Amino acid sequence: MTERAAFVLTVSDRSARGERPDASGPALAERLTALGFLVERGVVPDDEAAIAAAVRGAAAGHDLVVTSGGTGLSPRDVTPQALRGVIDYEIPGFGEVMRAAGRASTPFAALSRSFGARVGSALLLAVPGSPRAAVESLEAVAELLPHALGTVAPRLGPEEEPANDGGTGGAEEPHHP
Ligand code: MTE
Repeated sequence: MTERAAFVLTVSDRSARGERPDASGPALAERLTALGFLVERGVVPDDEAAIAAAVRGAAAGHDLVVTSGGTGLSPRDVTPQALRGVIDYEIPGFGEVMRAAGRASTPFAALSRSFGARVGSALLLAVPGSPRAAVESLEAVAELLPHALGTVAPRLGPEEEPANDGGTGGAEEPHHP
């Protein structure tokens, strides 16, 4: 099996300045390692140019890039706008699933502008910054990753299909355009 490479980018002014230990990065890395990824990490401030450059670089050498932080509504929450010019296209279902799952913890999950996207041959997930929110968001979409990566990052080859347990034996295979 080809080893899958992930890059976790913590987006935080305070962590980048060394004023606050990065808690979400290690938490995400631990979960991704358990999911079978080789994980590298980095930290950048809430700065559009720095975020864009870091994600471009990470996407060139990794199958999956996960940013944490900067998805809220404050003036320094700039992750989605920083990445607008970097992504090829958004994959709306990732944000939908992350927000829906997060609402089980807090209604404010609805205010996160978390999203998934394609960046070249990498999959990008932009999740909220608190360790709990970051891991909950990753967890919510974990079952989607093998199939999404198998499509976006073709070097990984086709991945197993999600179990089709809703049929009576005559169900058709899922259709892939
Ligand atoms: N999502 C989950 N699953 N769990 C949470 O606790 N917190 C929310 C939201 N999404 C939360 C969540 C809160 S309080 C905020 S402000 C936003 O994520 C944005 O976080 P960010 O600005 O750190 O990216």
